[in-house]
Formats: sequence, structure tokens, C-alpha cells
Amino acid sequence: TITMNTNVFSLIKLPQKAKYASVLLALIAAVPGANAQNKLVSVSGKTFNDANKNGKFDPWEDSRLSVDQKIEIVIKAMTNEEKVDLLIGTGMPGIEVLTGPVGDSKQGLVPGAAGGTAELHRFGIPATVVADGPAGLRIAPRKENDKNTYYATAFPVGTALASTWNKDLLYQVGKALGNEVKEYGVDVLLAPGLNIQRNPLNGRNFEYYSEDPLISGKIAASIVNGIQSQGVGTSIKHFAANNEETNRLTIDVHVSERALRELYLKGFEIAVKEAQPWTVMSSYNLVNGQYTSASKDLLTQILRNEWGFKGIVMTDWFGGFPGFESIQKGKISDVVKQMTAGNDLIMPGIPAQKKALLEALNSGKLAQEVVNINLKRILAYVFRTPTYHKYQYSNQPTLTKNAEITRNAAAEGMVLLKNENNTLPFANKQKEISLFGVTSYAWITGGTGSGSVNNKHTVSLLEGLNSAGYKLDQELVNLYQPFAEKQVAAEMESRKSKGILALPGKLSEMKMDDAFFAKKAETSEIAFVTLGRNSGEGGDRVVDNDFNLAKEEIEMLHEISKAFHARGKKVVAILNIGGVIETASWKDEVDAILLAWQPGQEGGHSVADVIAGKVNPSGKLTMTFPLKYSDTPSAKNFPGVPAENPKDVTYEEGVYVGYRYFNTFNVKPSYEFGYGLSYTNFEYADLKLSAKTFKEKITASITIKNTGKVAGKEIVQLYLSAPHQNIDKPVSELKAFAKTKLLNPGESETIVLTLEPKDLASFIERRAAWIAEAGIYNVKIGSSSLNPKQSEKFLLEKQLEVEKVNKILPLTTPFKDLKNNK
Ligand code: BGC
Repeated sequence: TITMNTNVFSLIKLPQKAKYASVLLALIAAVPGANAQNKLVSVSGKTFNDANKNGKFDPWEDSRLSVDQKIEIVIKAMTNEEKVDLLIGTGMPGIEVLTGPVGDSKQGLVPGAAGGTAELHRFGIPATVVADGPAGLRIAPRKENDKNTYYATAFPVGTALASTWNKDLLYQVGKALGNEVKEYGVDVLLAPGLNIQRNPLNGRNFEYYSEDPLISGKIAASIVNGIQSQGVGTSIKHFAANNEETNRLTIDVHVSERALRELYLKGFEIAVKEAQPWTVMSSYNLVNGQYTSASKDLLTQILRNEWGFKGIVMTDWFGGFPGFESIQKGKISDVVKQMTAGNDLIMPGIPAQKKALLEALNSGKLAQEVVNINLKRILAYVFRTPTYHKYQYSNQPTLTKNAEITRNAAAEGMVLLKNENNTLPFANKQKEISLFGVTSYAWITGGTGSGSVNNKHTVSLLEGLNSAGYKLDQELVNLYQPFAEKQVAAEMESRKSKGILALPGKLSEMKMDDAFFAKKAETSEIAFVTLGRNSGEGGDRVVDNDFNLAKEEIEMLHEISKAFHARGKKVVAILNIGGVIETASWKDEVDAILLAWQPGQEGGHSVADVIAGKVNPSGKLTMTFPLKYSDTPSAKNFPGVPAENPKDVTYEEGVYVGYRYFNTFNVKPSYEFGYGLSYTNFEYADLKLSAKTFKEKITASITIKNTGKVAGKEIVQLYLSAPHQNIDKPVSELKAFAKTKLLNPGESETIVLTLEPKDLASFIERRAAWIAEAGIYNVKIGSSSLNPKQSEKFLLEKQLEVEKVNKILPLTTPFKDLKNNK
């Protein structure tokens, strides 16, 4: 209840009077029985006499009001128009052709930001700004009539960050990201993205972390915690089951509740519970017939009721639209359904959505109580933002420090896939290197689309090796440089007109003949050959010339390897890629393979650090590299049907995604999940479980010793095998992991990993519960999913119902997902 004293007007001094008079009028109107006692306002039983002591009525600044009370007052005072203004974003500059004029917002102050929330001046509610993305802040580097620059740091892409498996390091990366967000005047970073890498061809896999939900969730939680430690928000995305780009606005994902809960939702659950992101972004796709942005099951039942999410949900940009072209036909998202589902904020927001929402509110089709809940959450969000707190941002983030952070993170995310006879490190700076591959010279920082970053400069591999003091074959450099530059210029030109969603092309390789390779092999000590791949938002990758190497690349590798090996010289392949490629057919031709991913703006330095041995590689794969694409469990269900224009995609592989499939069905991969080499060796010893019988939890301790000659870090992985009596389950699943500190030769560290009841459980649909089967559980700790080093058993005496939930998102078209019928 709110009551107030109408005499307060006399206490308000001009000009505030004019500003706040309407607030008071609205407040009074909103309060039945507002009386004339000497009290200003009473909320939830508390009464306030002189909130206008300073001559101004501003509930936001009254220290005796709790945030909730302030919010309650403001919502009561808002007109329907004002409510709608706050529920719909302020538009996205540059899309006016599609939508008509978009709103006026603070985005003008941060050009290049993706969107924001509206200002409601009379309540003192400022416009807030949200901007992409997962590999760094995406804003425009220049402003009109302004000589200053606003470059942001391009950090390694999500996959590269995840490959570090290093939660502490990623917290630091998060802090650096948050510093740029805050100092450039942005309130929320639209990141991280943590969808499951269900299929290697997803064009946005580079933004995501893993085929495994534990890694995805833990990595996301660290990054969110790091970013939010700076007092700015995050938006974990895209919730949920957004695992491909083909027809992403309309694709209907058919997936079992078990696979949803165990894989596609699990990472989000971990991130929400361990980091409370300020916001969650619902995805574009449908799940079992419902747009995720209009799914009460997802946004209210799961996210809030089950997981305790406290922040706001925003749509993805135009989420819930039946295709972009629908805008011009006047078809927009079902805003009433989105609001009711618990999708608080509609982004980027277009006039037609405002109109529809206002009509629904005015007619009563959409209940006030529903939007008031959404508004309450949006206001609580606004209240936390730096903008609300009038933070004086400097436009001077710590770019030099952040460059150092990205350089180290990128190096730590690199995965050494092969290293015959210690080909790497190659520390000899006197001997000449032949640097092949157009990508060595036209280095790929990160993928395209909203996940791209406007960084000032990218360090190519050429530049990285040069600045590390390596001697390079100059003839090659002189040939390759103009060759690469010309192609890059043409590529930029062709993408210019297509805007942010322009997909990247692939650069061609230079034609060289055998005699030329022979000459290089004569004079150089070693060959480095970079293979590059790029992809981006809005399109999936393809098998030919993308997942598989192009003919010219195979030939190049083959010829180089023939020429160099004939002279006893070595060949190193460097992979500057954002997603999985085929490696099995050519890996025997090279001596070493360094998977550098798309490592951000300092990439060339990071690779040089690893090559020189300054950094001992300690990254491991967070996904499987299959022998061939068709081995991928989702290959026959990607991107969906009908093939010409997919509408539906069925996740028939169920929970058997990635290593869960390969290892259970004994399909040999090229490189397995969890794999990665080091310049040193580690010994695993003394695995001990805290108990022989599982009670509330069990801990496993193991000692890792560096038995090699150089310092290094090891990623320790705990896989659990369940009894497999009545519950169909993958042969083993990753349930915990840790990274050692930098261990010097001979040094050891004891790692302790914990198993909770839910780690033992599977989701049993017919019981709508997480159940752990009674029996013997096998704990395997090792250096990859196929390389257990030590194992121990424990017993669960009685079946455990770990958690009972409500059923969600039933299938619209029943299908049976893959089972392990052994
Ligand atoms: C992407 C989101 C992004 C948003 C704003 C959408 O197209 O899917 O990931 O945050 O645009 O740029």
C-alpha cells in the first residue's frame, strides 16, 4: 500500500516541482484512499514523513527506502506508455530502413553499441547501454567530430579461452573485459556465449566453449564473475539450444527433456548458480515448437523457479520474429507471449513492437501484474548500472595491461596436438624459418558478426615471429605479404556493403612449384605452415573446403613436407581456426601441430611465445576432433530438414554429443576431448577417495608431478562411470576438473576434486527427476577422456532422487533418441 500527503507540493521548490509534480499526481492517482495526513508515502507498512527534505521528491535518492520500495513507487506511478518504453529497447541504429525511426538513446554516446534501455526522465531513470560481445567490447572505434579513438581489445575467441581450462585466468580475462565495458560507458556486455558445440559446422562455435556443459558452465561462470566484479553486467547467451545458424530465427529444435537438461541447459544452470549474471539473453530458435523468448517453461519455470535467477531476460536482437523479412510485412514477435513468459526486455525494440504492447496493455489483453513483474526486474537492473550511479567513465581502459592479458590467455589456450621428436619448442633464432600459408600473413583474430571486435591492431604470425627475433626466409615474406594484403583488401571490400552479418570468405593459397619448395627446404631449417579458417554469425560452415582442407591446402602441405623431409627438416602446422577441422588425413605429413585457435589481437606474439618455449602449451581440447565429419553423431541431423530450407532439426543423438558418443560407441576420433600435449610430462599418483561409500559428497585427491625438464601446467580431468544397470548413460562423463599451478621440474601438487549428488544423477523423464542409480561408481582421473591415469571405485548404497522438478517443453513430434543398448 502507498499513502501520501497531498501537502507535499508546498514543500517542493521549483524547478523540481514541475519535474516531480506529475510523479506525485500519478502516485496519488495510483493509491486508493490517498489521504491528507502529514505523511508523504508509506510502502509495505513503512511510512515516510519528509522524503522531500531537500526540496525534491525523488524516491531513488531517499536512503530510507529500500530498492524494492523505490521500484514499487515508480511502477505505480508509470503510465502504460512509460511502461512500454522501458520494456522495449531503444532500437539499433542502422536498421531504420526496416523498422522506421528507432528511439533516441544514450547509444549515441557509445556508437557501435548494440542497444539499450530507454530513459524516463521524470523518474530519473537513465538510458542504459548494452554492447557485444564474447571476445571483447564491440563499439565503434571512432566518433563523429572527435579525434579520439575508442578501440577495444580483441581477446581470444570463446573456444580459445575455454581451451585453457583455467578458471582463475579466465576470471582475470573477465576483469579486463569488464574494465573496457565500464570505462567506455557501457553497462552490460552481451556475453559470454555458452551454447553447446553440438556439431563442428555451427558457424558460431568459435564464440562458444565446448561440447561439454560442465566446461561451458564453469568457464562462463568465471568470466561472468570477472566481468561483474567491475560493477558492470553480463548477458549469458543464447538461452537455449541455439546450436546452429542456418535459419536461426525460425529453426525448431526437437530435443528430449533429458538432453535439454543434461546438456543444453546445464551450462546455463552452472553459470546462473555460480555467477548470477545480470541478464540472460533468450535465443532465436524454437525448442519443441515454442520460441525460447516466449517459453514460460524456460524463462520462468527453469531459469527463475528452479535455478533462482534474479536478473532480467532480454530477447536476442529480433528474437521471436518469424524471419527478418517479416518486419516489412508487419509481422513481429508475439510480445504478449514474450512478456508473459518472463522475457522482460525486448531487443533491440522497434516501433511496431511498442505499439502492439501498448495496445495489449490498454485493452487488458496483457495484465498489468505481468508487466509489473518485468518492470520490477528491469528497474532493479537499471539501479545497479554504472550509468544510473553516474559513473564518470574515462574512455581510457587499461588497454596496455589488457593486451598483456590477452597475449597470455591466448598462449595458454593453445593446444599442442602433435610434437614428434620434440619438434617444438623451436628456440633457435639463428636458423631460418620458411613461413608458408596465406594466413601467417593475414592472421585471423576472431570470427565475424556480433562477436567481432574493433581492435586497433592485430599481431600476425609474421609480426609475432619477427618481434621475437626469429629469422625468416625473406623471399617468402616478400611474395606472401602483397599476396595476402591484396586478398584481404578484396575481402573487406566485398563485405562492406553487407554490414555486420557479412560472412567471411576464404583466402586462396599461393601457387608454388616443387623446385621452389626444394629451394626453401635447402636454405631453411624448418617450415611453418598456417592453415586458416573463419566463420561468423548468420551462417554455418560446410564440409568441403572448410571442415575438410581444400585441395590446394592438401597439396601445399604435401609438397612442403616432401621437400623438407627429404632434407631431414621438419614441418610444423599452425591452425588459426575457430572451429574443428579434419586432421586425420594429413597429420602424418607434419612433425608438429599447434592449434592456435583465433587467439585475439596479440595472436602472433602468443604463438611465438609457445614456439620459443617461453610458454609451455597447456591447453586441451574442449571438443572432439573426429576422423571424418560423418562420424559426428549429429551429422545426419544438421542443419535440419528439409535440406534446401531447414525448418526442423531433431537432436536424435540425445545425450550422446561429442565425447559422450565417441567414447561410448567406440568411435575413434582423430584427437579426443580433453587431449593436449605439453613440453614436459606429468605423473599421476596417489588417487584417494574420501570414502568408499557415497554419502553427501565424495572428494578425490590426486598428486600430479612434473617429471619432465621444463615447467608446465597440467589439466586434471575427473570422469565418472555410473553403474549402468537401469539407466542408459554415456560410458563416462566429465564431472570435475582443475588446472595445476605452474609446476617446476620435479615439483608436485595435490589436487582435490569434489563430487556432489547431482554429479551422479541422470535426468529421468518419466519421473521428472534427477536420479542416481545405486551401485558401483568408477572415478577415473586422467589427462584426457581416453587417457585415464588412475581410478578408484565407490558405492552408492541406495538409489538417490537428487531433485524432483516439473516437466518442461514436451516434444511436439515424438521421436526416440539414441540409446546405448549394450
Ligand atoms: C546476436 C547476439 C548479439 C546481438 C546484438 C544478435 O544478432 O545473435 O549474440 O548480442 O545480435 O548485437
